[in-house]
Amino acid sequence: TQGPLTDRFGRTATDLRISLTDKCNLRCTYCMPAEGMQWLPRESLLSASEVVRLAAIAVREFGVREIRLTGGEPLIRPDLEELVGALHERLPGLPISMTSNGIGLAARAQGLVDAGMTRVNVSLDTLCAETYRTLARRGKLTEALAGVAGAQQAGMSPVKLNAVLMRGINDHEAPELLRWALENSCDLRFIEQMPLDADHGWTRTDMVTAAEIRERLATQFDLSEDTAPRAGAPAEKYLVRALGGGPVLGTVGIIASVTEPFCEDCTRTRITAEGHVRSCLFSHHETDLMHLLREGASDDAVAQRWREAMWVKPRAHGMDHTGLDSGDYVQPDRSMSAIGG
Ligand code: GTP
Ligand code: 5AD
Ligand code: SF4
Repeated sequence: TQGPLTDRFGRTATDLRISLTDKCNLRCTYCMPAEGMQWLPRESLLSASEVVRLAAIAVREFGVREIRLTGGEPLIRPDLEELVGALHERLPGLPISMTSNGIGLAARAQGLVDAGMTRVNVSLDTLCAETYRTLARRGKLTEALAGVAGAQQAGMSPVKLNAVLMRGINDHEAPELLRWALENSCDLRFIEQMPLDADHGWTRTDMVTAAEIRERLATQFDLSEDTAPRAGAPAEKYLVRALGGGPVLGTVGIIASVTEPFCEDCTRTRITAEGHVRSCLFSHHETDLMHLLREGASDDAVAQRWREAMWVKPRAHGMDHTGLDSGDYVQPDRSMSAIGG
């Protein structure tokens, strides 16, 4: 059963995202309720060796080219370094990245790089300590910033920053965040808030759109579309110059999942923390691979089930775009932290 992981709409999944835990040490309002969630019991999480096995199957059977570790917060896993080391040893040369909130990263970045981690994306929604408290409810802005610096010092490159703008809370900070990212050599991406929060509090009118983000940035910067091919990346990229022109200072990305969806070009396959294939962030069902792993099924059998799950990946998520299944969006039961971003 060798060959690419394709779906019935002709897309090929080349990027694997594996969630290592549903737990998080923060409670970002766009993701989790203040009281947290009902966490999965430890024994139902993928073990390090199960993660390695799934990744090896994906690389060998499907030709997957990149693996991203997500959560919840991957740093919650005490065995993260060991897991990355085992992945790297089994699959040398495969880029291993992580999406993290940055808390505790400063102390662990070097160990992760030594184990084989290539790069990291860090959530940074604000540069104001008080707003951080309002948004993330826990943790400290200074710790997240230290995480970014630590990752850079350890040689992770590029460090990408993810910012979700919330109307009336941090949306006025867009230009300031970009200035900070440019000065600190980070690739900043703004993300439209998606209806994946546990409280189901998302509203279309509260969401800060890509168009609004561009408008806000244009008050302080000159943006022009970056024509370099996007190659399945979720962010639309812009070259940034000072107002009035001059040299390119850097780039900024906008991930417009709602107003400018990129489902046709999606290159992702996701595994949840309990070892289920989730063909799309917005799927309504998942396919359990964990029981196959634990019942001693062959790699072939696991790959076959994985293929079947991806074949029925939804065409699009039906949130905004006319022509896609617009207007009939139903939020999945799982929230972002349980899906793994
Ligand atoms: P790289 O560009 O490879 O560094 O990774 P990434 O941007 O895909 O990963 P990251 O985990 O940092 O995700 C940033 C944002 O993009 C998050 O809000 C994700 O939920 C969103 N995102 C990632 N993959 C997809 C996808 O397949 N579909 C949609 N709609 N959004 C996605
Ligand atoms: N909409 C958009 N992005 C989200 N993230 C978490 N929840 C949402 C949401 N509802 C972001 C986090 C993190 C990345 C994995 O996803 O900020 O950077
Ligand atoms: Fe944690 Fe990420 Fe969710 Fe924030 S968005 S609560 S950092 S999982």
